[in-house]
Amino acid sequence: MTIWNLGSINADMVYALPHLPGPGETLAAAGFQQFLGGKGTNMSVAAARAAAHVAHIGAVGPDGRWAKDRLTEYGVDTRFVAEVDTATGHAIIAVAADGENQIILYPGANRAIPETQLGLALSEARPGDWLVMQNETCLQAQAAKMARDLGLKVAYAAAPFDADAVQAVLPYLDFLILNAVEAAQLTQAKGQGPEALGIADVIITQGAEGATHLRQGDAARHYPAQKVDPVDTTGAGDTFTGYVLAGLDRGLPMPQAIAQASLAAALMVTRRGTADVIPDLKDVQDARLG
Ligand code: RIB
Repeated sequence: MTIWNLGSINADMVYALPHLPGPGETLAAAGFQQFLGGKGTNMSVAAARAAAHVAHIGAVGPDGRWAKDRLTEYGVDTRFVAEVDTATGHAIIAVAADGENQIILYPGANRAIPETQLGLALSEARPGDWLVMQNETCLQAQAAKMARDLGLKVAYAAAPFDADAVQAVLPYLDFLILNAVEAAQLTQAKGQGPEALGIADVIITQGAEGATHLRQGDAARHYPAQKVDPVDTTGAGDTFTGYVLAGLDRGLPMPQAIAQASLAAALMVTRRGTADVIPDLKDVQDARLG
């Protein structure tokens, strides 16, 4: 089956810093690198590296041909990545010595995806395919409704968190993934926890503490994370999401999909960078043996 990803495409400008800057602070970076990134792109690349067939729906500006080409090189179907007049999205990412980050996002073309592009893409989708979305693009609610009507399963990563954006897609979701901070924000906005929202599967990621799976009607199940020394946590959550969806798409039961995703995310935090350095299945299998 295919994973259709309505997702952001960013140029990630990553600065290595001794600590995250405070208000008004000027800080010299010890290093700078540019990567392909964006929560959506990271998920597409992760799912493709986990052996799924992935089609990305998105947009780049006149300056973004390299990003589309690179996504294609990484095995993602980019026929539905539009080239628009708005500049390609970018992110300025500060990474501290302990691996924590701080991100400034310029959405650019990610918020200018033509609706026709979405319709063109999903006209090729088949019942049983997945649609995955995050909150760095436009058109999530339209996509979710269209996908549901076509018999796709709908997954949503509630990041960056926006209560209204979650509310708009909530009626269509089969799968919701969010981190512990986002789960607390959603609970505050809705007056009830994510487990009470009628979604079949919810995963709450907790970084080094692992992840909790809430299956409608079942007891919550916790999965511990692998212990590693992090150098850069950027994109680890996206890697986890892409791997879980790829695993489910390949027919893995949820516990195995989560176990594989946890290993991939653990490897990811030992690497500096975003989409370009997401581990593939062989890396994950070698890590399991090692
Ligand atoms: O989750 C990490 C991603 O967030 C980065 O790749 C950056 O582009 C921002 O979208």
